[in-house]
Amino acid sequence: MTTRQTQVQTPDLVFPPGFVWGAATSAYQIEGAVSEEGRGRSVWDVFVRQPGRVVNGENADVAVDHYHRYRDDVRMMAGLGLGAYRFSVSWPRVQPDGAGAVNRRGLDFYSRLVDELLAHGVDPWVTLYHWDLPQALEDAGGWPARDTAERFADYAAVVHDALGDRVRNWGTVNEPWCAAFLGYASGEHAPGRREPARAVRAAHHLLLGHGLATAAMRAQRADSRIGGCVNLYAVSPQTSSPADLDAARRVDGLQNRFFLDALLRGEYPADVLEDLGEAAGFAQEGDLEVISAPLDMLLVNYYSRFTVSGVPGGAASAAAAPIEAGSPWVGSEHVSFVEGGRPVTAMGWEIDHDGLREILLRLAEEYPGVPLVVSENGAAFDDVADADGFVRDPERRDYIEAHLRACHDAIQAGAPLEGYFAWSLMDNFEWAWGYGKRFGLVRVDYETQRRVPKGSALWYAETIRRGGLIR
Ligand code: NOJ
Repeated sequence: MTTRQTQVQTPDLVFPPGFVWGAATSAYQIEGAVSEEGRGRSVWDVFVRQPGRVVNGENADVAVDHYHRYRDDVRMMAGLGLGAYRFSVSWPRVQPDGAGAVNRRGLDFYSRLVDELLAHGVDPWVTLYHWDLPQALEDAGGWPARDTAERFADYAAVVHDALGDRVRNWGTVNEPWCAAFLGYASGEHAPGRREPARAVRAAHHLLLGHGLATAAMRAQRADSRIGGCVNLYAVSPQTSSPADLDAARRVDGLQNRFFLDALLRGEYPADVLEDLGEAAGFAQEGDLEVISAPLDMLLVNYYSRFTVSGVPGGAASAAAAPIEAGSPWVGSEHVSFVEGGRPVTAMGWEIDHDGLREILLRLAEEYPGVPLVVSENGAAFDDVADADGFVRDPERRDYIEAHLRACHDAIQAGAPLEGYFAWSLMDNFEWAWGYGKRFGLVRVDYETQRRVPKGSALWYAETIRRGGLIR
């Protein structure tokens, strides 16, 4: 792989020294090798085999074969000049049944990956849970069962014990909202259950798992930096009518504040608990103290903005369909997700970089004192590869550039933002959408597994070399 060797131009918008420039992936989306070296089954292995769950019935048995190609992939990351790589560890590779016996061979894969990254000057950032729950734990009740949180803490301690001497930066649970509500309410993700009240319990237990894992890891070493991860949306009311404002409050409440207040204030927002009504009786004494143990950073995944109205029956936006389907509290009885009139990505998600600046500044103001990292941001577009496999993707480059500008603006305005990870390093298995939606900076030809950096990757590499953006 080559990157263009142009002269490095001095940037106009310089990022602070030490700013982390990275890219992210997750285990199930890239690894493949689902039956190798003692890996157990995850909820996704089961889900993808159920008819109608994934577009074209695709699965990630092979994915982009990263399990076998990780050395080349690391070399490619180094070629792009990435400072850091955020990846996740597959729980069923490490504990095939989600509890007890550790599968050494699975754990060793991550140890080799970490060594390879360090040897190439790429800092490994580990996410402990990116949605691939061991099926055995789902069979025992899944995230709606409290025990899953305890099991997660045990697993986190196993991984942290093995890699903590070389990995400094840790994320616990990726996007607990998605894991809970897409998995257990809308059923769009594994395990595909449609039980909204249990989804709320799942959300609490994912947060509790985060807190218990954090405590377990802190007891092992004091020098690890541990972050909770949230997917945040900018939310706008369609008008300033009381009904629209209330719809925005509801959506912001369940999507954003529910998780932020628990993690950073040790309480669930009173108005959200009121909206939840009977579904709210899930927390036990002391849980919120565990959940809100001090964090070293907050990992923020940001993609889009929602515009909402309090008048039921408005035109549903594509991006919000799973949310409406899954959560009666923000469902069509109370809220309409409407088009905000912005350009959209191939996912139908509206592009709004201002929303990222808004969120970073809001975090700095309303939840002060926590360093912030954008742990995912990026876009799927309908890429077209030329005969050499090269993709010119100015839309993706513009998307990332605009969001990096928003990051720069937020830093200038005082947000303690320490890094940015593009989603994703390379094209991969986009969950229920299968392989049709490509988020990669690097093109993957799924027939040959050949990787070719797209135009956006070359631009990102130059930006990293410059340490900032040209105005
Ligand atoms: C968030 C998730 O963490 C990631 O797995 C997914 O591929 C991207 N969003 C894009 O949908």
